[in-house]
Amino acid sequence: MNLPQRRYLPIRLESIKPEREIPFDLFLRDGEHYVLFRRARQMLTRGTIDKYVDRGIGDLYIDPRHQRELAQFFEECLATEFVDPLMPLDRKAALLMDASRSIMDSIFDDPAAPKVLRRARAVVDYTIDFVSLGRDAVSSLTQLCSHEYQTYVHCLQVSIYAVAIGNQMRLSREFLACLGEGALLHDLGKTAVASKVLTKVGELTVGEWVEMKRHPTKGLELLAQNEAIDERTRSAISGHHERLDGSGYPEGLTRDNIALPARIVAVADVYDALTTEFPFRPAHTWEGALKVLQEEAKAGLDADVVRELSVVIGTGRRKSK
Ligand SMILES: [Fe+2]
Repeated sequence: MNLPQRRYLPIRLESIKPEREIPFDLFLRDGEHYVLFRRARQMLTRGTIDKYVDRGIGDLYIDPRHQRELAQFFEECLATEFVDPLMPLDRKAALLMDASRSIMDSIFDDPAAPKVLRRARAVVDYTIDFVSLGRDAVSSLTQLCSHEYQTYVHCLQVSIYAVAIGNQMRLSREFLACLGEGALLHDLGKTAVASKVLTKVGELTVGEWVEMKRHPTKGLELLAQNEAIDERTRSAISGHHERLDGSGYPEGLTRDNIALPARIVAVADVYDALTTEFPFRPAHTWEGALKVLQEEAKAGLDADVVRELSVVIGTGRRKSK
C-alpha cells in the first residue's frame, strides 16, 4: 500500500545562507512525497538559490527524524547570521520565521524539558530586535505568517503579533520579552489535552470542554516544574482566554482584573485564529479579521489593543501593496 510519508520539516530557500554547509539531506516536495534534492554537507550558492526561487520553489524539506538537530542548527544560525547588519531584511525575516518555527516544534515535542523558558526567551529576543527595525520589518515578518493550523506555529505567530503590538504601545524591552515569552508558550498546555478533543470538528461535550479549559493552567504547571516564571509571562499564559465582560475562562475574570499581557495575547490569539484556515471555514482576510475583532472589542476584547493591532497590520499591508 502506498501510504503518505510523515510530515517533513520545511525550510525556506531564502533562509539558507549561500555557501553555508547544511548538515542534513534536503528534499523537494512532490505531492505527498519527498524526493532528494541535495545530500547533507553540500553548500548552495547564491546563484542556485536565486534560480530555484525564480522557478517558484520556496521551500525545501528535512527528514522529521532530525527535528532536534534542526532546531540546534537554527539556534546557531540565529546567533551567527541573524546579527549580520548586511543581511537583507527579507532574508532575516525568513530565517527568523524558520528558526523560530523549528525551535517551537522541538519545545512542543518535549514541553516538560528543562530550559523551555530560556529557549523561548531567546526566540523572543530575536523577534524584538527584528521588530524594532521598524514598520518594514514588522510587515515582512507578519506576511510570512502561515494560514495552516498547528499549535506550535499558532503560538509563534501569536508571539510575533503580541510583540509587534507591545512595540507599537512602546512597552519596555523587558515587558516585551515577558509578553512574547508568554505568547510563545500560551497554548503549551494543549500538549496535555487529548488530540481527539483538540481536533474535533463538531461541538465539544461538557466533559471535553472541561478538559480543554484546563490548558492555560496546565501550561503553567508544565513550565513551573523546571523554571521560575515572571508574573507577566505567567499572566499571558493563564489569562489569554479571559474576557473583559467576564465570559472567559478559567477564572471568569473581568476588565481591570485581567493583566495587560493577557489582554494583548487574547487579541493576537483571536486574530491569528481568524486568519487561519480550518476544515469548517476558510481563513478571513486581514481586513475581515480586523473587522471581527472590532466587533468583539465591544464586549470581550480590549478595544485599545485591537486599535494597536490594526495599526501594526494595516500600515504594513497598505504600504506593501
Ligand atoms: Fe489557548
